[in-house]
Amino acid sequence: MSSIFPSIRFGGDYNPDQWDPSVWDDDVRLMRGASVTTATVGVFSWARLEPRPGEFDFGWLDTVLEKLDAGGIRVILATATASPPAWLATLHPESLPVDERGSRFGFGSRQQYSPSSAVYREHALRLVRELAARYGAHPALEAWHTNNEYGCHVAASYDDESVAAFRAWLARRYGTVDELNRAWGTGFWSQRYGSFDEVDAPRHAPTFRNPTQLLDWKRFSSWALLELHRAERSVLAELSPGVPVTTNFMGFFADLDYWDWSAEMDFISDDEYPDPSDPLSHVLSAATRDLMRSLGGGRPWLLMEQSPSAVNWRDRNAPKAPGQHRATSFQSVARGADGILHFQWRQSASGAEKFHAAMVPHGGENTRVHREVQALGRELAELSAGDAGVLGAPVPASVAIVWDWESWWALGQEATPTRIDYLASVLEWYGALLRRGVTINFVRPGADTAAYRLVVAPLQQVGSGDELAALAAVVERGDTLVVGFQTGILDRDLHVHLGGYLGGAGSALQRALGVSVEEFAPLQLGVPTVVAGELEGTAGVWQEHVRVTDAAVLASFADGHASGGAAITRRATEAAGAAWYVATQPSAALFDALFDRVLADAGVEPAFAGPEYGVETAARGGARFVINHTGEPREVVVAGTGVSLEPFGVAVLTGSEG
Ligand code: GLA
Repeated sequence: MSSIFPSIRFGGDYNPDQWDPSVWDDDVRLMRGASVTTATVGVFSWARLEPRPGEFDFGWLDTVLEKLDAGGIRVILATATASPPAWLATLHPESLPVDERGSRFGFGSRQQYSPSSAVYREHALRLVRELAARYGAHPALEAWHTNNEYGCHVAASYDDESVAAFRAWLARRYGTVDELNRAWGTGFWSQRYGSFDEVDAPRHAPTFRNPTQLLDWKRFSSWALLELHRAERSVLAELSPGVPVTTNFMGFFADLDYWDWSAEMDFISDDEYPDPSDPLSHVLSAATRDLMRSLGGGRPWLLMEQSPSAVNWRDRNAPKAPGQHRATSFQSVARGADGILHFQWRQSASGAEKFHAAMVPHGGENTRVHREVQALGRELAELSAGDAGVLGAPVPASVAIVWDWESWWALGQEATPTRIDYLASVLEWYGALLRRGVTINFVRPGADTAAYRLVVAPLQQVGSGDELAALAAVVERGDTLVVGFQTGILDRDLHVHLGGYLGGAGSALQRALGVSVEEFAPLQLGVPTVVAGELEGTAGVWQEHVRVTDAAVLASFADGHASGGAAITRRATEAAGAAWYVATQPSAALFDALFDRVLADAGVEPAFAGPEYGVETAARGGARFVINHTGEPREVVVAGTGVSLEPFGVAVLTGSEG
């Protein structure tokens, strides 16, 4: 595998248009001093680039790009379409998005456009055309960055053009209104439609809305934004051929199905802002980095944005502890990033983000944050040039976790058996493997998992017959499968698989696991349950009545509605692996005990002999990274080697050490 970049990239969003031009030379001087290779330019510059409709001012950007180029800094040029100027809102108020109660957003913040607005699209594409024609072959240009964080603030708009586009999308999807009626189950509550023209967006409503309508609205809204990216991308392909195009994802972002989006990226980019005050934030950020690598099919990706210290958008914004920024930056590199960029280069003096940390803080270069930035830039340059072979290298993973945006959307709907936080729950599964130093790829439902010894499917509530059969196939081929509760309940129209949960009567998945599920018995918030047997401990969130047909019961519920029933089952197969079913949400300690057994079944050798809380490891190229995310010194044994780590310390083991 090779990198898209000549070295590990380092830098950040650069907004010179917020500053007097007298600052620009100093910016380049400081960038060079901080080993910056790359600046992302122009993300919010539309109003400056096109001060009046059709009147373009590129002079300032010409100068900025020249200065950066002369300083040896490469540029990721934004298409600047993320925030249209005031004149667009004034001339075309219909381009402003509308919320689900029909209220139109105003100008004065950002991202105030409807994804389906024809006039927004026309103006945005004209700007992209101008930019691409002017800078498409610029010597400093390294990549294009379309828009910015699509859907971050407005993931769906309920305006008339959006509703018309939704109807057209539904007509393409279903062909006939009868087919829509079938899929949406409109026999319920008198919801039957006579034509596509009667269908509306799922607006504010008296009570529960149609679940499949809600799901299709999510699908449509994710698609509508992706269409904007596609349109920009095709202009760039025409006028700036050969230059890679990306946009910045937002990790596990709830509103966009990034499995669909990733195919449209020349490389994956991500923005991540782990909360420095949350001792478990490294679990989410490790998982996010693995997701980004997985979305790119294992190829290296780019950390497009992170804060060098505090953000300004939580209620309480803790700064990063000394060393913590280095730890999370190395976490990205260890998990497949070929570049570490930031939001933003110079901390704003005005505007809504003036209290957000930046690479050059308000206090200037002689500050803790800037010194840490300089040191990190130097270190990454050394790693990039060294013998460890990290740049462009893949990150081997022998375990896959199924991640499904549609199950997230379905589990998050109203009128479900219980409130389940899909992401938080999956992270508990993920965390148990992270604690053992096992590297994970995320896979889409139905994906080919032949490369994995162990496949884990937690809470995959939605699955077609084929997708669920793909899980069963893991067992048939002799690998190990672990399935968590609320898997295989609904098909892709959100209709129940009838005849016993887990895929319906006699499904391949029921046979593979040797169980079916008869009845749910969710637990009240914060109420634990005890499980006992070969595996024992506490669990939460969920109980259910499992009918065991062909599996060993390794733990049973010791209390509650399902008392005496199976909680964890294992079906040994003739081939090497095993099929596990987990009918509850284990506590961390129970997860640790469970994965001890599961990893042994799968023949996966963990890097840590037992669970390590707060320390992670991943191998990439010729290096093994060991990262301490705690404020305490730690001693760990990684793949047989003892490693001492400072608070937030990072060890990069190479050659025989690794
Ligand atoms: C996002 C945006 C940036 C900035 C940061 C602040 O990532 O893309 O423009 O607003 O958040 O954390």
